[in-house]
Amino acid sequence: MYDWLNALPKAELHLHLEGSLEPELLFALAERNRIALPWNDVEALRAAYAFNNLQEFLDLYYRGADVLRTEQDFYDLTWAYLLKCKAQNVVHVEPFFDPQTHTDRGIPFEVVMRGIKAALVDGEKRLGISHGLILAFLRHLPEEQAFQTLEQAMPFRDAFIGVGLDSSEQGFPPRLFERVFAKARSEGLHAVAHAGEEGPPEYIWEALDLLKIVRIDHGVRASEDKRLMQRIIDEQIPLTVCPLSNTKLCVFEHMGQHNILDMLERGVKVTVNSDDPAYFGGYVTENFMALHEGLGMSEEQAKRLAQNSLDARLA
Ligand code: ADE
Ligand code: ZN
Repeated sequence: MYDWLNALPKAELHLHLEGSLEPELLFALAERNRIALPWNDVEALRAAYAFNNLQEFLDLYYRGADVLRTEQDFYDLTWAYLLKCKAQNVVHVEPFFDPQTHTDRGIPFEVVMRGIKAALVDGEKRLGISHGLILAFLRHLPEEQAFQTLEQAMPFRDAFIGVGLDSSEQGFPPRLFERVFAKARSEGLHAVAHAGEEGPPEYIWEALDLLKIVRIDHGVRASEDKRLMQRIIDEQIPLTVCPLSNTKLCVFEHMGQHNILDMLERGVKVTVNSDDPAYFGGYVTENFMALHEGLGMSEEQAKRLAQNSLDARLA
């Protein structure tokens, strides 16, 4: 089954480039940039990948991102991810990057953007993988800083297709970012947002009605709200679901409890994605495989999920 799933053509629509930083590359970049790490080796770092919730993961994820310093580092990070995509027949990617994670530590915006974009362009040319890059605002920081980030990004307007909203969800509702999303949309950018991962269905309503998002990242808690479910089915609003992420961050206790196939059968446009594959135990094919093993996903269901990912592209 693994090889069959691997060979399915698919798109990845929910992937944080910083979350694709494998421990081996993290150590290599730390050495290249002469940065001391609190872990002795790759195994010790991997052993720290045990999380009870989103925040515990984010604390380590931001810590890991500190080894990314130069344009070449961002290129190498993105290129390593694209090679994984090639190996798994991911033919189109719409990855997120978190500029504030880097600009807040003094890395210029253009260093981040140039490194990532150069790798994505090479990925099109040399690997045949098309892309649309999404700039994600960190929701635990004030909207004012999101505005500054958008301003820094505008000289590179053609390099990205949309804006997203990520980081700590509980206590940081989408409504806090209504104005910066309006500004981004006025620039012709697509809007997406993480909502309903740990946060309640109300956050999904807000993201749809106030941020006017065209795709929901995670959104698994939509199933708690009948009216919301009907809306996302009627309007065929895609959900970028990340099964291994959800079990690793204890959104579901185990894969057998995941609601993605129930949603699929009810007519929701759900897709399968890896979120932060270096931290959660696998890339897109491993996420499909986990659905087969944990939920008995059939080949026919896998085909529909893969087709949904191709249909839900924004670029
Ligand atoms: N940043 C990276 N991964 C994330 C996730 N799963 N939820 C929110 N923010 C994130
Ligand atoms: Zn995410």
